Amino acid sequence: MCGIVGYVGEREASSVLLSGLRMLEYRGYDSAGIAVMSDGDVQVRRSVGKLQNLADLLEADPLQGRCGIGHTRWATHGRPSEENAHPHRAGRVVLIHNGIIENFLELRAELQRAGRTFSSETDTEIIAHMIDVAIQGGSDLLAATRSTVAALEGSFSIVVMSRDEPGRLVAAKSATPIVIGVGEGENFIASDVPALLEYTRDMLFLEDGEIAEVDCDGVRLSRFDGTPIERQPRRITWDPVTAQKGGFKHFMLKEIHEQPQAMIDTMRGRLLLEAGDVSLAEIDLGAQWWERVERIDLVACGTAWHACLVAKFFIEKLARIPCNVDYGSEFRYRDPILDDRELLIVVSQSGETADTLAAVEAAREKGSRTLAVCNVVDSSIARRVDSVLYTHAGPEISVASTKAFVTQLVALLLIAVHLGRRRGFVDADTCRQLLEEMLHLPTPLREVLDRADDIEAVARRYAKAENFLYVGRGLNYPIALEGALKLKELSYIHAEGYPAGELKHGPIALISETMPVVVLLPRNTAFNKTMSNMKEIESRGGQIIVVTDTTDAAVDAVATDVIRVPTVNPLLMPLLLTVPLQLLAYFVAVHRGTDVDQPRNLAKSVTVE
Ligand code: AGP
Repeated sequence: MCGIVGYVGEREASSVLLSGLRMLEYRGYDSAGIAVMSDGDVQVRRSVGKLQNLADLLEADPLQGRCGIGHTRWATHGRPSEENAHPHRAGRVVLIHNGIIENFLELRAELQRAGRTFSSETDTEIIAHMIDVAIQGGSDLLAATRSTVAALEGSFSIVVMSRDEPGRLVAAKSATPIVIGVGEGENFIASDVPALLEYTRDMLFLEDGEIAEVDCDGVRLSRFDGTPIERQPRRITWDPVTAQKGGFKHFMLKEIHEQPQAMIDTMRGRLLLEAGDVSLAEIDLGAQWWERVERIDLVACGTAWHACLVAKFFIEKLARIPCNVDYGSEFRYRDPILDDRELLIVVSQSGETADTLAAVEAAREKGSRTLAVCNVVDSSIARRVDSVLYTHAGPEISVASTKAFVTQLVALLLIAVHLGRRRGFVDADTCRQLLEEMLHLPTPLREVLDRADDIEAVARRYAKAENFLYVGRGLNYPIALEGALKLKELSYIHAEGYPAGELKHGPIALISETMPVVVLLPRNTAFNKTMSNMKEIESRGGQIIVVTDTTDAAVDAVATDVIRVPTVNPLLMPLLLTVPLQLLAYFVAVHRGTDVDQPRNLAKSVTVE
């Protein structure tokens, strides 16, 4: 998820671009750059790291011009560096991009065969070359962009300019957002509203498959195939801070609602439905690495540790490899028995968690290979392990992890399928069925998100409770732990997660009408046994909030409140069940008035042991 901006009009472009990029920093940045039409050519300035570095560079070496583009990068392909920073140049063309081009390797090979050379590792640079080639072939910028986007597969929003056509920008959208700000004698382009509110509140939102030609006289919309589009601008009334949250009250709620797209982005290019397999070419642990893995250690902290507990079920079921799960803060103290037959998989959203990084060091010292599931390219953990499988959740601003967690589960399930198929423990048909359901999962997830009002009503009823229990069975027990953690860290209510079957071994002594119990009750995992646990709770006066995909009347007879979710493959149920628990914790916290995005005592990245 990157930030892109464009401007054409009477102001100095570089100041408009910089102020727009500052309002998009929440979209992540590890490098930034701008390009401005100046003295008959397009001048580019780029820098690594925080946006201020680019501002300092422009202070020292300013750009004058009234038309330009700007970009903050959230790296997905190619490490954060000046040469990988946008804008990218090819001949007369300069371009910025947000998204992932799935077929960029074949497109790059084609361009190389045509004699083109590249200066970056990015998928973006090939788009600039393709447009430059088309212009060389006689197209103007608009036609060249049109023919190029027709050949792209994946997700992209691009803004492109050419030194041959000063004062003109062309934007094209597929899967990632682009908004056009309409001004008086000036027009603006951005990936999101906040970048433009300082200058205009009249916005045109591009839809997938649409192109905008922008100059200071106006905006002309058309479809990729050239069909013209007539559309009136919308008036945006948000304040800039609300706009950064996409109109949501908190980043956490925005990120909960971003989960369907985050799942799609993490699956993108990795599912081979025809073959009933996955493509994880980015995992480089040596030829046939999976054959030499006799045991797997899954290590992480907090929410990521819960993802490891679920992954143990995924991997042991699909690949029959014994898995051990450890807290990062504990792993090295048990002097683990490790050697080159062991694979350490660490999971970390930030890639900076000191305890998890320490586990990597401990494993490397003992000769184990190390793999990370991580959300931040080139983070400390990503640079220290042997190989990385990145999640593509985009920047997670809220301290409470939500979209990163579900993308960790997606990535870990892909690894389990990868191992299972190569070790022959799961067949193509079984995997095809699972992968097709996984691809479809954003739909039932959106159905759960559409029930947020019902979940808020439940949260309101229990917001004054001082203790909660969360229970689940099998691969949903870690989701009970995750639900309890969400409630703890957001609302400061004491909450514990337990295996449902464990209640009778002690915790049931806690049951009372002031101790709500959240029960995860999927129809396809230990339904009857968990129903028995619910009756044990109900018979002792406990209040039960059940999260279930059943419509069984017996459930309604025992539960105090029922939150229903659609039925999905049992292996995918953890990804679905976690969403009502995120929303429950969120709304309880809102009702209690805590600081949802930055709860007390917490940090987004725990870089101390
Ligand atoms: C999750 O809601 C918490 N903020 C915390 O437990 C977090 O998951 C943990 O600190 C691990 O962080 P990481 O994924 O960045 O390594």
